This record gives sequence, C-alpha cells and structure tokens, in this order.
Amino acid sequence: MNKKYIRQSRVVQTDLVLPNDTNNHNTLFGGVLMKKMDAVAAISARRHCRTDVVTASTDSVDFLAPIHPTDSICLESFVTWTGRTSLEVFVKAVAEDLLSGNRRIAATAFLTFVALDENGSPSQVPSVVPETKEEEFLHNTGGERAENRKRRRKKSEELASYMTIDKPWDS
Ligand SMILES: CC(C)(COP(=O)(O)OP(=O)(O)OC[C@H]1O[C@@H](n2cnc3c(N)ncnc32)[C@H](O)[C@@H]1OP(=O)(O)O)[C@@H](O)C(=O)NCCC(=O)NCCS
Repeated sequence: MNKKYIRQSRVVQTDLVLPNDTNNHNTLFGGVLMKKMDAVAAISARRHCRTDVVTASTDSVDFLAPIHPTDSICLESFVTWTGRTSLEVFVKAVAEDLLSGNRRIAATAFLTFVALDENGSPSQVPSVVPETKEEEFLHNTGGERAENRKRRRKKSEELASYMTIDKPWDS
C-alpha cells in the first residue's frame, strides 16, 4: 500500500469565538472546541486514507488555557501514526489574542479513526512518513499510545458489560 507524508494530511482552520459558543464564564464552551477538534481531525484522516472514516476514540482532551471572545482559535491537525485499519490524528488548538497578538496552546488531543470500505467494514490504511523533528517524535511514540488504547478499550468493554440498559423511567 502507498505511503503518505504527514504534511499531506495537515489541516489548519482559524475561527472567531462567537457569542453563542461561550459558557457562563465568557470563555469558549469545551464541547464546542471538542466538536471543532473532531471535525478537523476527521478531514486529516480522510485526506490520508481517501475513504470514509469513523471516530473510534478520543484520548483525553487537555484544556490547557481558556479561550476568550477577543481570541481567534486556530486548529491544526495531522496524521501521526497508523495501524492496519486505524490511524491516529494529533490536534492542537492555538488561541491568539487579536488585540495583543499573544499566542498560547489552548488544548491538545489525539483522536483515533478507523477507515471504512464501501460496505462499512474497516479497511487498510496507507502508512505515514514523518519528516520534521516534531513529526518524528509524535510518530515514534504512536505505537505506545495505541497499545494503551487497546488496554483502555478492553476496560471500557468490560465496564459496558456491567451497565444496565433498562429504561430509567420504567423503574
Ligand atoms: C470503531 C469501529 C469501526 C471498530 O470496528 P470493529 O469491528 O470493532 O473493528 P476492529 O476490532 O477490527 O478494530 C478495527 C481497528 O480499530 C481499532 N479500534 C477499535 N476500537 C478502538 C478504540 N476504541 N480506540 C482506538 N482504536 C480502536 C482497532 O485497534 C483496529 O485497529 P488496527 O486495524 O489498526 O489494528 C466500531 O467499533 C464502530 O463503528 N464504533 C462506532 C464509531 C462511531 O459511531 N463513531 C462516532 C461517529 S463518527
């Protein structure tokens, strides 16, 4: 299967912080940021494998700094590591105060997508080739993160086996 460079899946998207997207503290609502992160990451994943994809999991989203209405929010995503049918995408969110120019990392996350064929079954993905130091670091550490996710998935499945699915309003 073909190899792709990490840069080929890079997506950069800059947005304003709109009033409808803020919380009671007048900062960007976390759920809005998570949705934006999932969306840019999905584009990176689809650019890489040129198939449909689904989000399989999101590692912890770390909200490192609040995002204010005077900020722009720039999301950058790219594929960092690939398995057989799954691929890892790194997303960073950089907030920039549009008055002062002050920039800071507001959030980071790794998301895992699974490529799907025309029947909706997992399909093989091209491997990914890093070029820069940052890309090499993220690529070389991807295997370990994937192993952690496998363990976490097992735990989640075990947890789900204990969960009731009765209708709460019937009890
Ligand atoms: C994700 C999904 C396609 C996996 O399907 P499956 O039949 O269980 O497939 P497999 O067990 O063969 O796993 C396929 C790949 O996904 C990976 N994977 C599955 N679940 C995962 C998870 N929770 N986290 C990370 N990777 C996961 C596997 O490790 C495997 O990777 P590999 O081929 O690179 O080794 C399926 O569970 C699903 O459809 N989930 C719902 C997805 C969804 O609705 N997302 C939100 C909307 S887009």
